[in-house]
Amino acid sequence: MGKMGKEIAGSGVEGTIEMLKTAYAGELSAFHYFWYVSQNIEGLGVLEQKFFEERADEELGHAKKVSVRLMQLGTNAKDDPALWEQESGLGKLQPSRYLTLRSALEKALEFERSVIKLYNDLANNVKDKDHGTYHLALDLLDAELEDEQTIEDILAKLEIH
Ligand SMILES: [Fe+2]
Repeated sequence: MGKMGKEIAGSGVEGTIEMLKTAYAGELSAFHYFWYVSQNIEGLGVLEQKFFEERADEELGHAKKVSVRLMQLGTNAKDDPALWEQESGLGKLQPSRYLTLRSALEKALEFERSVIKLYNDLANNVKDKDHGTYHLALDLLDAELEDEQTIEDILAKLEIH
């Protein structure tokens, strides 16, 4: 960790690091969920394959940003994918259970909302203290809010039940 970075992150840095590790596990869990769905979706969902693939790419990009911030704070993300479901707080996402368009979107909405809460909490915790993490939390919060809105819109207009 850079000297000034450490000074700025201040005494709450351990809590910030824990939340970032949670976020890392959550982003990679979400990445895998969307990627698996994009590869295996059935029925009319096949028409939305690209949408799920793009979401997977997006979540991977988020994990990268979280990883960079962890490094700036002098640590690394945890390295065991087997622990992601526990660390993320999202539990088992089990994408193979959600391979129809509606079920895939509804499940995604559920975990997007958990991640939104996490970034909102993170932003609250570091506000006026650690601007580096604050900026990241707002950036990712904004992206997840947009995803929530998009998924809600698609679900609202879905004509097949
Ligand atoms: Fe994300």
